[in-house]
Amino acid sequence: MATSSSSTAPQRWSSRWLFVLAAAGSAVGLGNIWKFPYIAGENGGGAFVLIYLVCIAAVGIPIMVSEVLMGRQGRSSPIHTMRKLAKQAGRSQRWSILGWMGVLAGFLILSYYAVIAGWAVSYIWASGSGTFDGASAQMVGATFDEFLASPMELIAYQTGFMILTIWIVGRGVTKGLEAAIRWFMPLLFLLLIALLVYSFNSGGFDQGFAFMFDMKWQAVTADSWLIAMGQAFFTLSLGMGTMMAYGSYVPDDANLGSTVFTIAALDTVIAIAAGLAIFPIVFANGLEVAQGPGLTFVTLPLAFGQMPLGNVFGALFFSLLSFAAITSAISLTEPALAFLVEEYNAKRQRVAISLGVICWALGLGTVFSFNIWSDVTFIGGLTFFDTVDYFSQNILLPLGGMLITFFAVWLLPKGMLDSQLGIQSTGISWAWRVVAGIIAPLGVLAVFTSTIWPLLSGLW
Ligand code: PFF
Repeated sequence: MATSSSSTAPQRWSSRWLFVLAAAGSAVGLGNIWKFPYIAGENGGGAFVLIYLVCIAAVGIPIMVSEVLMGRQGRSSPIHTMRKLAKQAGRSQRWSILGWMGVLAGFLILSYYAVIAGWAVSYIWASGSGTFDGASAQMVGATFDEFLASPMELIAYQTGFMILTIWIVGRGVTKGLEAAIRWFMPLLFLLLIALLVYSFNSGGFDQGFAFMFDMKWQAVTADSWLIAMGQAFFTLSLGMGTMMAYGSYVPDDANLGSTVFTIAALDTVIAIAAGLAIFPIVFANGLEVAQGPGLTFVTLPLAFGQMPLGNVFGALFFSLLSFAAITSAISLTEPALAFLVEEYNAKRQRVAISLGVICWALGLGTVFSFNIWSDVTFIGGLTFFDTVDYFSQNILLPLGGMLITFFAVWLLPKGMLDSQLGIQSTGISWAWRVVAGIIAPLGVLAVFTSTIWPLLSGLW
Protein backbone atom coordinates (compact mmCIF):
# COMPACT_ATOMS: atom_id res chain seq x y z
CA MET A 1 0.00 0.00 0.00
CA ALA A 2 1.46 3.35 -1.00
CA THR A 3 1.31 6.03 1.66
CA SER A 4 2.49 9.58 1.85
CA SER A 5 5.53 8.47 3.83
CA SER A 6 6.46 5.70 1.44
CA SER A 7 8.93 5.73 -1.42
CA THR A 8 6.39 7.27 -3.78
CA ALA A 9 7.06 10.66 -2.26
CA PRO A 10 10.66 11.69 -3.14
CA GLN A 11 12.30 13.24 -0.11
CA ARG A 12 14.77 16.15 -0.21
CA TRP A 13 16.45 18.34 2.38
CA SER A 14 14.78 21.75 2.31
CA SER A 15 18.12 23.42 1.53
CA ARG A 16 21.84 22.80 1.20
CA TRP A 17 22.26 24.21 4.71
CA LEU A 18 19.87 21.72 6.18
CA PHE A 19 21.91 18.96 4.65
CA VAL A 20 25.08 20.47 6.13
CA LEU A 21 23.43 20.60 9.56
CA ALA A 22 21.97 17.10 9.26
CA ALA A 23 25.25 15.57 8.14
CA ALA A 24 27.12 17.51 10.84
CA GLY A 25 24.50 16.25 13.29
CA SER A 26 25.26 12.71 12.20
CA ALA A 27 28.99 13.30 12.40
CA VAL A 28 29.05 15.11 15.75
CA GLY A 29 28.20 12.58 18.42
CA LEU A 30 29.62 10.45 21.19
CA GLY A 31 32.67 10.07 18.92
CA ASN A 32 33.53 13.77 19.27
CA ILE A 33 32.61 14.50 22.85
CA TRP A 34 33.14 11.19 24.63
CA LYS A 35 35.74 9.39 22.52
CA PHE A 36 37.94 12.02 20.87
CA PRO A 37 39.07 13.72 24.10
CA TYR A 38 39.93 10.44 25.80
CA ILE A 39 41.85 8.96 22.89
CA ALA A 40 43.71 12.25 22.43
CA GLY A 41 44.42 12.09 26.17
CA GLU A 42 45.86 8.59 25.87
CA ASN A 43 47.84 9.20 22.68
CA GLY A 44 49.85 12.28 23.42
CA GLY A 45 47.48 15.24 22.90
CA GLY A 46 48.71 17.60 20.16
CA ALA A 47 50.69 15.03 18.17
CA PHE A 48 47.61 12.82 18.02
CA VAL A 49 45.44 15.79 17.00
CA LEU A 50 47.80 16.37 14.08
CA ILE A 51 47.68 12.72 12.95
CA TYR A 52 43.92 12.83 13.25
CA LEU A 53 43.75 15.95 11.05
CA VAL A 54 45.88 14.21 8.41
CA CYS A 55 43.47 11.24 8.43
CA ILE A 56 40.43 13.53 8.14
CA ALA A 57 41.93 15.44 5.20
CA ALA A 58 43.57 12.61 3.24
CA VAL A 59 41.02 9.88 3.85
CA GLY A 60 37.86 11.19 5.51
CA ILE A 61 37.01 14.05 3.14
CA PRO A 62 37.59 12.07 -0.12
CA ILE A 63 35.50 9.17 1.18
CA MET A 64 32.71 11.47 2.29
CA VAL A 65 32.65 13.19 -1.10
CA SER A 66 32.42 9.77 -2.78
CA GLU A 67 29.57 8.63 -0.54
CA VAL A 68 27.53 11.79 -0.92
CA LEU A 69 27.99 11.97 -4.68
CA MET A 70 26.98 8.34 -5.12
CA GLY A 71 23.91 8.94 -2.95
CA ARG A 72 22.88 11.97 -4.99
CA GLN A 73 23.46 10.13 -8.25
CA GLY A 74 21.52 7.02 -7.11
CA ARG A 75 18.79 8.95 -5.25
CA SER A 76 17.77 5.91 -3.19
CA SER A 77 18.82 3.86 -0.18
CA PRO A 78 22.47 2.68 -0.26
CA ILE A 79 21.51 -0.87 -1.33
CA HIS A 80 19.38 0.36 -4.24
CA THR A 81 21.89 3.09 -5.09
CA MET A 82 24.68 0.50 -5.36
CA ARG A 83 22.48 -1.70 -7.57
CA LYS A 84 21.61 1.23 -9.85
CA LEU A 85 25.15 2.57 -10.10
CA ALA A 86 26.65 -0.88 -10.70
CA LYS A 87 24.18 -1.33 -13.55
CA GLN A 88 24.94 2.10 -15.03
CA ALA A 89 28.67 1.34 -14.82
CA GLY A 90 28.18 -2.11 -16.36
CA ARG A 91 29.46 -3.84 -13.20
CA SER A 92 28.27 -6.79 -11.16
CA GLN A 93 25.16 -6.43 -9.01
CA ARG A 94 27.24 -7.90 -6.21
CA TRP A 95 28.44 -4.38 -5.44
CA SER A 96 25.15 -4.00 -3.56
CA ILE A 97 26.85 -5.99 -0.80
CA LEU A 98 28.35 -2.64 0.21
CA GLY A 99 24.84 -1.44 1.01
CA TRP A 100 24.14 -4.57 3.05
CA MET A 101 27.35 -4.15 5.00
CA GLY A 102 26.23 -0.63 5.84
CA VAL A 103 22.86 -1.85 7.06
CA LEU A 104 24.60 -4.36 9.30
CA ALA A 105 27.07 -1.78 10.62
CA GLY A 106 24.20 0.63 11.35
CA PHE A 107 22.39 -2.00 13.41
CA LEU A 108 25.48 -2.96 15.35
CA ILE A 109 26.58 0.60 16.07
CA LEU A 110 23.11 1.84 17.02
CA SER A 111 22.65 -1.14 19.35
CA TYR A 112 25.49 0.00 21.62
CA TYR A 113 25.26 3.70 20.82
CA ALA A 114 21.84 3.83 22.48
CA VAL A 115 23.23 2.21 25.62
CA ILE A 116 26.07 4.70 26.01
CA ALA A 117 23.83 7.62 25.08
CA GLY A 118 21.57 6.36 27.89
CA TRP A 119 24.45 6.83 30.34
CA ALA A 120 24.76 10.44 29.19
CA VAL A 121 21.03 11.04 29.73
CA SER A 122 21.14 9.53 33.21
CA TYR A 123 24.12 11.73 34.10
CA ILE A 124 22.10 14.86 33.29
CA TRP A 125 19.96 14.12 36.35
CA ALA A 126 22.81 12.79 38.44
CA SER A 127 24.92 15.93 37.89
CA GLY A 128 22.05 18.38 38.07
CA SER A 129 20.76 16.98 41.35
CA GLY A 130 24.15 17.47 42.99
CA THR A 131 25.15 13.77 43.33
CA PHE A 132 28.78 14.68 42.66
CA ASP A 133 28.99 17.92 44.68
CA GLY A 134 32.15 17.67 46.75
CA ALA A 135 32.32 13.90 46.18
CA SER A 136 35.66 12.07 46.47
CA ALA A 137 37.25 10.18 43.56
CA GLN A 138 36.18 6.88 45.14
CA MET A 139 32.58 8.02 45.48
CA VAL A 140 32.34 9.17 41.86
CA GLY A 141 33.99 5.94 40.64
CA ALA A 142 31.66 3.84 42.81
CA THR A 143 28.58 5.68 41.50
CA PHE A 144 29.57 4.81 37.92
CA ASP A 145 30.41 1.19 38.80
CA GLU A 146 27.09 0.74 40.60
CA PHE A 147 25.24 2.21 37.65
CA LEU A 148 26.96 -0.16 35.21
CA ALA A 149 26.27 -3.10 37.52
CA SER A 150 22.52 -2.49 37.35
CA PRO A 151 21.08 -3.93 34.09
CA MET A 152 17.57 -2.62 34.78
CA GLU A 153 18.75 0.95 35.13
CA LEU A 154 20.84 0.74 31.95
CA ILE A 155 17.94 -0.81 30.06
CA ALA A 156 15.55 1.90 31.22
CA TYR A 157 17.75 4.67 29.78
CA GLN A 158 18.60 2.68 26.64
CA THR A 159 14.88 2.11 26.04
CA GLY A 160 14.00 5.77 26.50
CA PHE A 161 16.72 6.83 24.09
CA MET A 162 15.65 4.26 21.48
CA ILE A 163 11.99 5.31 21.69
CA LEU A 164 12.92 8.95 21.07
CA THR A 165 15.18 8.00 18.15
CA ILE A 166 12.52 5.83 16.50
CA TRP A 167 9.81 8.41 17.05
CA ILE A 168 11.92 11.04 15.25
CA VAL A 169 12.97 8.87 12.30
CA GLY A 170 9.47 7.47 11.87
CA ARG A 171 8.21 11.00 11.12
CA GLY A 172 10.27 11.21 7.90
CA VAL A 173 12.97 13.47 6.50
CA THR A 174 11.25 16.84 6.82
CA LYS A 175 8.99 16.39 9.83
CA GLY A 176 11.32 14.11 11.74
CA LEU A 177 14.98 14.46 10.86
CA GLU A 178 14.94 18.14 9.86
CA ALA A 179 12.72 19.19 12.71
CA ALA A 180 14.99 17.50 15.26
CA ILE A 181 18.08 18.95 13.65
CA ARG A 182 16.66 22.48 13.60
CA TRP A 183 16.26 22.27 17.38
CA PHE A 184 19.15 20.17 18.54
CA MET A 185 22.03 21.57 16.48
CA PRO A 186 21.67 25.22 17.61
CA LEU A 187 21.26 23.95 21.19
CA LEU A 188 24.40 21.90 20.81
CA PHE A 189 26.40 24.93 19.62
CA LEU A 190 25.08 27.08 22.48
CA LEU A 191 25.88 24.49 25.12
CA LEU A 192 29.38 24.00 23.75
CA ILE A 193 30.03 27.76 23.83
CA ALA A 194 28.73 27.99 27.42
CA LEU A 195 31.03 25.14 28.46
CA LEU A 196 34.00 26.69 26.68
CA VAL A 197 33.46 29.97 28.56
CA TYR A 198 33.21 28.03 31.82
CA SER A 199 36.34 26.05 31.08
CA PHE A 200 38.17 29.24 30.05
CA ASN A 201 37.54 30.59 33.53
CA SER A 202 38.36 27.37 35.32
CA GLY A 203 41.99 28.23 35.93
CA GLY A 204 43.28 25.28 33.89
CA PHE A 205 42.78 26.69 30.40
CA ASP A 206 46.48 27.27 29.58
CA GLN A 207 47.35 23.75 30.61
CA GLY A 208 44.41 22.25 28.71
CA PHE A 209 45.26 24.30 25.62
CA ALA A 210 48.92 23.28 25.78
CA PHE A 211 47.90 19.65 26.15
CA MET A 212 45.73 19.81 23.03
CA PHE A 213 48.35 21.51 20.89
CA ASP A 214 51.81 20.52 22.24
CA MET A 215 53.43 17.80 20.14
CA LYS A 216 54.32 14.97 22.50
CA TRP A 217 55.57 12.52 19.88
CA GLN A 218 56.94 10.10 22.49
CA ALA A 219 53.34 9.16 23.39
CA VAL A 220 52.51 8.32 19.76
CA THR A 221 52.71 4.65 18.77
CA ALA A 222 51.91 2.77 15.55
CA ASP A 223 48.58 2.05 17.20
CA SER A 224 47.87 5.78 17.40
CA TRP A 225 47.63 5.90 13.59
CA LEU A 226 45.18 3.05 13.66
CA ILE A 227 43.09 4.71 16.33
CA ALA A 228 43.18 8.05 14.48
CA MET A 229 42.06 6.46 11.22
CA GLY A 230 39.27 4.45 12.90
CA GLN A 231 38.17 7.61 14.66
CA ALA A 232 38.16 9.58 11.37
CA PHE A 233 35.71 7.03 9.93
CA PHE A 234 33.55 6.82 12.98
CA THR A 235 33.39 10.54 13.65
CA LEU A 236 32.52 11.43 10.04
CA SER A 237 29.92 8.60 9.92
CA LEU A 238 31.68 7.04 6.93
CA GLY A 239 31.87 3.61 5.38
CA MET A 240 28.36 2.42 6.14
CA GLY A 241 26.16 4.32 3.72
CA THR A 242 24.81 6.91 6.16
CA MET A 243 26.28 9.73 4.10
CA MET A 244 25.07 7.97 0.95
CA ALA A 245 21.54 7.83 2.36
CA TYR A 246 21.70 11.48 3.49
CA GLY A 247 23.32 12.35 0.12
CA SER A 248 20.32 10.92 -1.71
CA TYR A 249 18.21 13.79 -0.31
CA VAL A 250 20.68 16.56 -1.35
CA PRO A 251 19.30 19.15 -3.78
CA ASP A 252 20.79 19.00 -7.30
CA ASP A 253 22.35 22.45 -7.20
CA ALA A 254 24.46 22.00 -4.03
CA ASN A 255 28.23 22.06 -4.61
CA LEU A 256 29.46 18.81 -3.11
CA GLY A 257 33.12 19.71 -2.57
CA SER A 258 32.49 22.79 -0.46
CA THR A 259 29.51 21.18 1.30
CA VAL A 260 31.53 18.18 2.44
CA PHE A 261 34.45 20.39 3.47
CA THR A 262 32.10 22.42 5.67
CA ILE A 263 30.72 19.27 7.33
CA ALA A 264 34.18 17.84 8.03
CA ALA A 265 35.40 21.21 9.31
CA LEU A 266 32.40 21.54 11.67
CA ASP A 267 32.95 18.03 12.99
CA THR A 268 36.66 18.67 13.59
CA VAL A 269 36.15 22.06 15.22
CA ILE A 270 33.56 20.54 17.56
CA ALA A 271 35.85 17.63 18.54
CA ILE A 272 38.67 20.07 19.31
CA ALA A 273 36.31 22.41 21.15
CA ALA A 274 35.09 19.45 23.23
CA GLY A 275 38.71 18.73 24.17
CA LEU A 276 39.23 22.40 25.02
CA ALA A 277 36.10 22.35 27.18
CA ILE A 278 37.06 19.16 29.02
CA PHE A 279 40.84 19.19 29.58
CA PRO A 280 41.09 22.56 31.38
CA ILE A 281 38.40 21.44 33.84
CA VAL A 282 40.30 18.21 34.47
CA PHE A 283 43.66 20.00 34.86
CA ALA A 284 42.18 22.72 37.07
CA ASN A 285 41.30 19.99 39.57
CA GLY A 286 44.67 18.25 39.39
CA LEU A 287 43.20 15.14 37.75
CA GLU A 288 44.66 12.78 35.18
CA VAL A 289 43.69 13.21 31.48
CA ALA A 290 44.76 9.76 30.24
CA GLN A 291 41.83 8.05 31.93
CA GLY A 292 40.40 6.21 28.94
CA PRO A 293 36.62 5.84 28.56
CA GLY A 294 36.07 6.88 32.18
CA LEU A 295 37.25 10.43 31.38
CA THR A 296 33.70 11.59 30.71
CA PHE A 297 31.79 9.57 33.27
CA VAL A 298 34.22 9.58 36.19
CA THR A 299 36.94 12.22 35.89
CA LEU A 300 34.70 14.96 34.57
CA PRO A 301 31.87 14.57 37.14
CA LEU A 302 34.56 14.51 39.83
CA ALA A 303 36.02 17.74 38.46
CA PHE A 304 32.60 19.42 38.15
CA GLY A 305 31.84 18.34 41.73
CA GLN A 306 34.77 20.45 42.96
CA MET A 307 33.82 23.61 41.06
CA PRO A 308 31.40 26.49 41.63
CA LEU A 309 28.14 25.91 39.70
CA GLY A 310 29.55 22.47 38.86
CA ASN A 311 26.14 20.82 39.05
CA VAL A 312 24.64 23.27 36.53
CA PHE A 313 27.54 22.96 34.10
CA GLY A 314 27.79 19.21 34.65
CA ALA A 315 24.13 18.87 33.67
CA LEU A 316 24.74 21.13 30.66
CA PHE A 317 27.70 19.00 29.59
CA PHE A 318 25.70 15.77 29.69
CA SER A 319 22.82 17.47 27.86
CA LEU A 320 25.31 18.42 25.15
CA LEU A 321 26.45 14.81 24.93
CA SER A 322 22.84 13.57 24.74
CA PHE A 323 21.83 16.02 21.99
CA ALA A 324 24.93 15.13 19.99
CA ALA A 325 24.09 11.44 20.38
CA ILE A 326 20.47 11.72 19.24
CA THR A 327 21.28 13.49 15.96
CA SER A 328 23.82 10.73 15.22
CA ALA A 329 21.51 7.90 16.27
CA ILE A 330 18.78 9.02 13.88
CA SER A 331 21.26 8.83 11.01
CA LEU A 332 22.34 5.30 11.89
CA THR A 333 18.89 3.94 11.03
CA GLU A 334 18.58 5.69 7.66
CA PRO A 335 20.34 3.15 5.35
CA ALA A 336 18.18 0.23 6.55
CA LEU A 337 15.02 2.28 6.94
CA ALA A 338 15.19 3.83 3.46
CA PHE A 339 15.86 0.41 1.94
CA LEU A 340 12.89 -1.31 3.57
CA VAL A 341 10.54 1.56 2.77
CA GLU A 342 11.56 1.45 -0.91
CA GLU A 343 11.70 -2.30 -1.26
CA TYR A 344 8.31 -3.04 0.29
CA ASN A 345 6.66 0.32 -0.26
CA ALA A 346 6.10 0.18 3.46
CA LYS A 347 5.08 2.80 5.96
CA ARG A 348 8.13 4.54 7.42
CA GLN A 349 6.78 4.52 10.94
CA ARG A 350 6.14 0.78 10.96
CA VAL A 351 9.56 -0.01 9.55
CA ALA A 352 11.16 2.33 12.10
CA ILE A 353 9.47 0.54 14.98
CA SER A 354 10.51 -2.91 13.75
CA LEU A 355 14.11 -1.79 13.26
CA GLY A 356 14.08 -0.15 16.67
CA VAL A 357 12.91 -3.32 18.40
CA ILE A 358 15.66 -5.42 16.77
CA CYS A 359 18.34 -2.88 17.62
CA TRP A 360 17.07 -2.56 21.16
CA ALA A 361 17.19 -6.34 21.64
CA LEU A 362 20.73 -6.46 20.25
CA GLY A 363 21.67 -3.66 22.62
CA LEU A 364 20.80 -5.85 25.58
CA GLY A 365 24.03 -7.74 24.80
CA THR A 366 25.94 -4.48 25.37
CA VAL A 367 24.03 -3.76 28.57
CA PHE A 368 24.88 -7.21 29.92
CA SER A 369 28.55 -6.87 28.91
CA PHE A 370 28.91 -4.46 31.82
CA ASN A 371 27.31 -6.73 34.41
CA ILE A 372 25.91 -10.27 34.11
CA TRP A 373 27.93 -11.13 30.98
CA SER A 374 31.11 -9.30 31.92
CA ASP A 375 32.96 -12.63 32.00
CA VAL A 376 31.59 -13.84 28.67
CA THR A 377 34.25 -13.18 26.04
CA PHE A 378 34.70 -13.82 22.33
CA ILE A 379 37.73 -13.77 19.98
CA GLY A 380 40.68 -11.95 21.56
CA GLY A 381 39.05 -11.93 25.00
CA LEU A 382 36.62 -9.18 23.99
CA THR A 383 33.22 -8.81 25.67
CA PHE A 384 30.03 -8.71 23.58
CA PHE A 385 30.14 -4.90 23.53
CA ASP A 386 33.84 -4.79 22.62
CA THR A 387 33.31 -7.36 19.87
CA VAL A 388 30.41 -5.47 18.29
CA ASP A 389 32.33 -2.20 18.57
CA TYR A 390 35.52 -3.72 17.12
CA PHE A 391 33.81 -5.52 14.27
CA SER A 392 31.74 -2.54 13.18
CA GLN A 393 34.29 0.22 13.67
CA ASN A 394 37.55 -1.50 12.78
CA ILE A 395 36.36 -3.88 10.09
CA LEU A 396 33.02 -2.94 8.50
CA LEU A 397 33.56 0.83 8.31
CA PRO A 398 37.12 0.85 6.85
CA LEU A 399 36.30 -1.96 4.43
CA GLY A 400 33.10 -0.22 3.32
CA GLY A 401 34.82 3.17 2.98
CA MET A 402 37.69 1.76 0.95
CA LEU A 403 35.40 -0.02 -1.50
CA ILE A 404 33.04 2.94 -1.80
CA THR A 405 35.80 5.37 -2.91
CA PHE A 406 37.32 2.74 -5.15
CA PHE A 407 33.95 2.27 -6.84
CA ALA A 408 33.25 6.02 -7.10
CA VAL A 409 36.61 6.91 -8.58
CA TRP A 410 37.48 3.97 -10.81
CA LEU A 411 34.23 2.30 -11.77
CA LEU A 412 31.71 5.10 -12.17
CA PRO A 413 31.77 6.72 -15.63
CA LYS A 414 34.29 9.57 -15.49
CA GLY A 415 31.81 12.05 -16.93
CA MET A 416 29.28 11.26 -14.19
CA LEU A 417 31.89 11.81 -11.50
CA ASP A 418 33.10 15.11 -12.93
CA SER A 419 29.61 16.46 -13.46
CA GLN A 420 28.49 15.50 -9.93
CA LEU A 421 31.54 17.30 -8.56
CA GLY A 422 31.27 20.21 -10.97
CA ILE A 423 34.88 19.60 -12.11
CA GLN A 424 35.76 21.30 -15.38
CA SER A 425 39.55 21.11 -15.53
CA THR A 426 41.40 17.90 -16.43
CA GLY A 427 44.14 18.73 -13.91
CA ILE A 428 41.67 18.91 -11.02
CA SER A 429 39.93 15.78 -12.20
CA TRP A 430 43.24 13.89 -12.06
CA ALA A 431 44.27 15.40 -8.75
CA TRP A 432 40.94 14.21 -7.35
CA ARG A 433 41.49 10.73 -8.73
CA VAL A 434 44.94 10.47 -7.17
CA VAL A 435 43.77 11.60 -3.71
CA ALA A 436 40.41 9.79 -3.58
CA GLY A 437 41.23 6.84 -5.80
CA ILE A 438 44.77 6.02 -4.65
CA ILE A 439 45.86 7.77 -1.45
CA ALA A 440 42.59 7.32 0.49
CA PRO A 441 42.00 3.61 -0.26
CA LEU A 442 45.71 2.76 0.20
CA GLY A 443 45.80 4.60 3.52
CA VAL A 444 42.76 2.65 4.68
CA LEU A 445 44.21 -0.60 3.36
CA ALA A 446 47.42 -0.08 5.32
CA VAL A 447 45.56 0.60 8.52
CA PHE A 448 43.00 -2.09 7.85
CA THR A 449 45.57 -4.84 7.33
CA SER A 450 47.44 -3.84 10.44
CA THR A 451 44.15 -4.07 12.38
CA ILE A 452 43.15 -7.39 10.92
CA TRP A 453 46.60 -8.97 11.04
CA PRO A 454 46.97 -9.24 14.83
CA LEU A 455 43.42 -10.55 15.01
CA LEU A 456 44.07 -13.25 12.41
CA SER A 457 47.44 -14.21 13.84
CA GLY A 458 45.70 -14.52 17.25
CA LEU A 459 43.33 -17.05 15.69
CA TRP A 460 46.08 -19.26 14.33
N1 PFF B 1 29.67 10.02 13.86
C1 PFF B 1 29.08 9.54 15.08
C2 PFF B 1 29.92 9.95 16.27
O1 PFF B 1 30.99 10.54 16.09
O2 PFF B 1 29.51 9.69 17.38
C3 PFF B 1 28.85 8.06 15.09
C4 PFF B 1 28.24 7.50 13.83
C5 PFF B 1 27.00 7.97 13.40
C6 PFF B 1 28.93 6.57 13.09
C7 PFF B 1 26.47 7.51 12.19
C8 PFF B 1 28.42 6.09 11.90
C9 PFF B 1 27.19 6.58 11.46
F1 PFF B 1 26.69 6.12 10.37
